[in-house]
Amino acid sequence: MTACMVAWSCVACSGPQDFMRAANPAARDIASFGWWLLVVFCVAAAIVWLVLAYIALRYDDGSFAAHAPADADEPKRWIVIGGLGIPAVVFLTFFALMFGPMRGSTAHQAGGAAVDIRVIGRQWWFEAEYLGHQVDEAVHVPSELHIPVGRPVDIELETRDVIHSFWIPKLHGKVDLVPGRVNHVRLLADTPGVYRGECAEFCGAQHAHMRIDIVAELPVYFDAWLESQRADAAQPDVDEKVLHGRDVFMASACALCHTVRGTQARGSIGPDLTHVGSRRRIAGGSFENTTANLSAWITDAQSMKPGARMPSLRQLSGPDERALVSYLQSLR
Ligand code: CUA
Repeated sequence: MTACMVAWSCVACSGPQDFMRAANPAARDIASFGWWLLVVFCVAAAIVWLVLAYIALRYDDGSFAAHAPADADEPKRWIVIGGLGIPAVVFLTFFALMFGPMRGSTAHQAGGAAVDIRVIGRQWWFEAEYLGHQVDEAVHVPSELHIPVGRPVDIELETRDVIHSFWIPKLHGKVDLVPGRVNHVRLLADTPGVYRGECAEFCGAQHAHMRIDIVAELPVYFDAWLESQRADAAQPDVDEKVLHGRDVFMASACALCHTVRGTQARGSIGPDLTHVGSRRRIAGGSFENTTANLSAWITDAQSMKPGARMPSLRQLSGPDERALVSYLQSLR
């Protein structure tokens, strides 16, 4: 058990989702609390096992059956001190210490300031909505959240279906997205980088494939990115394959479910595809945005992510599918 916990901790401690190596002060408080929990857990487990080993070795001659009854004074003292007293002290100490990181947590600080971004959870993808001065200025970005480094960003969290949980392990503690309720979190990244986030509340068959990448970049790059995202979709001009792809998109079910700003596609069931060509990942963050994945996602989404609302559009296989992929990739 201890070995499993340590192995798990080591696995968790590498890469963009490593909550033990946090990227801001509030997350660092949570991480150091986590380290203390792990250390105390390992020490407690080691003591329990040593006691068990001692008993097993001492009584391996079969005399164990003749041990003192549990209601004798000596065993009772063991149970009261070791089974109740020490665990109570340990649990109450950690309970009290937990209030420090909780007070400093970014979820606690947020809520009073103006909202910069609304994050919406759906089965099974996150959508970041950058709020403009007017409603029609809002920029919708699926499965990706860009923030400026060194600037606190206040985020409003909502869900359109079941309970989800927004968790960027390197940046903050978990905050749930609860139907009928608006929660808040404040994100602050110290250094540029890509931080991976996951849905942390079981929300159905594809819960494990509900991911969001946080791209923290210097303010000048962030401002340029947001400006580019506010623009309408690029219009194809000469490339015949791209033009054909656009026609396929507008004439098929794609346009009923997805929005491509600047065209007649205004669907709101699936993610906004206005700048899909510039996205890192597709399908709720499940797959990298490559030609092969995009192609497979169009014609065989139900094999890749069974239960997702994206249908498998097998009728588009062949030249239509390749043209469609070219059109989507041109939307940068
Ligand atoms: Cu959304 Cu789990």
